Amino acid sequence: MQTDFLVIGSGIAGLTYALMVAQRFPDRQVTIITKAAADETNTKYAQGGVAVVNDLENDSFEKHIEDTLIAGDGLCNRAVVEIVVKEGPARVQEIIDWGAQFDKDPEGDYKLGMEGGHSEFRILHYKDVTGREMERALLAAIEAAPNISIVKHCIVIDIITQHHLGYLVTKSTPDICCYGVHVLNTATNEIEKILSGVTLLATGGNGQVYRTTTNPSIATGDGVAMVYRAKGRIENMEFIQFHPTALYEAGKRGQAFLITEAVRGDGGILRNHAGEAFMERYDHRKDLAPRDIVARAIDNEMKIGGTEHVWLDCRHMDQEKFREHFPNIYAKCLSSGIDVSKDMIPVAPAAHYSCGGIKTDEWGRSSITNLFACGECASTGLHGANRLASNSLLEAMVFAHRCFLAAVDPAPGSHWLAHHPPATGGAPAPVEARPAVPDWNARGTSEPKEMILITQSLKELQQVMSDYVGIVRNTVRLQRAMRRIDLLFEETEALYQASTVSPQLLELRNMITVGYLITKGASFRKESRGLHYNVDYPGKSDMVENIVL
Ligand code: FAD
Ligand code: SIN
Repeated sequence: MQTDFLVIGSGIAGLTYALMVAQRFPDRQVTIITKAAADETNTKYAQGGVAVVNDLENDSFEKHIEDTLIAGDGLCNRAVVEIVVKEGPARVQEIIDWGAQFDKDPEGDYKLGMEGGHSEFRILHYKDVTGREMERALLAAIEAAPNISIVKHCIVIDIITQHHLGYLVTKSTPDICCYGVHVLNTATNEIEKILSGVTLLATGGNGQVYRTTTNPSIATGDGVAMVYRAKGRIENMEFIQFHPTALYEAGKRGQAFLITEAVRGDGGILRNHAGEAFMERYDHRKDLAPRDIVARAIDNEMKIGGTEHVWLDCRHMDQEKFREHFPNIYAKCLSSGIDVSKDMIPVAPAAHYSCGGIKTDEWGRSSITNLFACGECASTGLHGANRLASNSLLEAMVFAHRCFLAAVDPAPGSHWLAHHPPATGGAPAPVEARPAVPDWNARGTSEPKEMILITQSLKELQQVMSDYVGIVRNTVRLQRAMRRIDLLFEETEALYQASTVSPQLLELRNMITVGYLITKGASFRKESRGLHYNVDYPGKSDMVENIVL
């Protein structure tokens, strides 16, 4: 298969880019590959909304920029923060024009929500299902675009580079180039080769590396692992954001239901098992302090009390307003036997968002020529050491647009590595001009005899990451984690070399790589900053730097 524009991922980042490219080039083919159903994405589960400056009487770009920089704890790239905040309103208008709705008051003005770390009310939302609404609108627009096709239930294995032509490719190879991808079609179990002019990775996050996460099962860090294997640059992986308030359900692993921060924005109060509103002991912003602070405070309260959760108290809130703003949470709680007007909600932190990822420049270009990245899989410089709440849908839209501009126009800014030739640009390289890439070679492999080798390794990885590379870290735990991950890597590579590939094996392999990158970044960072807290290095170092692997 050949396509002019190849998009991996059908969340907000991939769909936004695909629509822009397809509208600009009606006679070119845009192909979106996604490993599950089209809407099974982190995007679909987004609740709180999109942070964007809308009310210029009370808010300003400067305030949003400042809030983002404060949350990022010294590591944000200021130029990128300014880009995202200032270009944000136009991108939000675009998705509104494509049909997405946001809540309005009776006067027709947008209702603006509040979340942790924001100095003003600026969160556009659609009840507590903002992401579902945005995904719906984007997929409807995609459906209407004749030159976009979505290939579902196909998992990309690796990007194709000179390595697949038999050349030695290392981290210092100057011009690694992406020619396309290898894909496992889960319907036929065949491995297919897709050659492309320009490829965009929009593969989302990696929450599944941990035992509990707000992320759905697709969030296995595939894009990051692929780029790392292809010898591209990965950055700041140690900054994993734990959302303070996932619904606690005893014994549950995997995806946990989120209780949006907007509930605290509307007045919800965290309490420990003694009933104390403990956040005032940790930060003057109390329940609306940035997430790293709230998650660590909850972790500490749980450790002191020997409990598996704390409580979120909404009993004092206007219940009619609660049901109107949070119908999904209200229904979920009720179905779990929790009446929020009478009962407190049991909550605990869960892995939520990856601030680091594939290093890009301000046009979404990765270190690999013809390969762009945007959305959660990318590290653009916006989030620094901690993402400000509701900045990620915004970032995904702004950078999808920037990737689009850079993919179609040869020179919007210079390339981030001087020795790299600029990405192919405007007219994407005719696919026919790509070198002859050999087909996938499955010689010598056979069906794995026991799935337990895969499922048990995954459990071990999630356990190690949660216990040793979680909210609070120390040197001994990180060393232990690295030794165990090394062993899992060795065993899984051996299995991979001998087995016909399956989605489970591919994802395990990717998650081990991502676990390794998080642990490596955490071990290199000899300080505590933003989301990375190491009790052996409780202060900040004077050297403010990104860790690039
Ligand atoms: P995703 O939406 O996750 O899409 C990734 C896509 O890549 C999927 O289609 C997946 O199938 C595909 N894919 C992955 N690997 C492969 C592969 N190997 N082959 C083929 N396809 C692949 N952010 C906010 O700004 N505001 C919020 O209110 C908010 N709330 C959130 C609530 C929850 C519960 C969660 C989980 C996240 C929330 N976030 C929020 C974060 C935000 O939703 C995500 O960061 C954002 O949606 C990511 O979009 P994306 O397009 O990068 O990736
Ligand atoms: C939430 O609604 O609390 C999540 C918002 C985000 O992750 O940005």
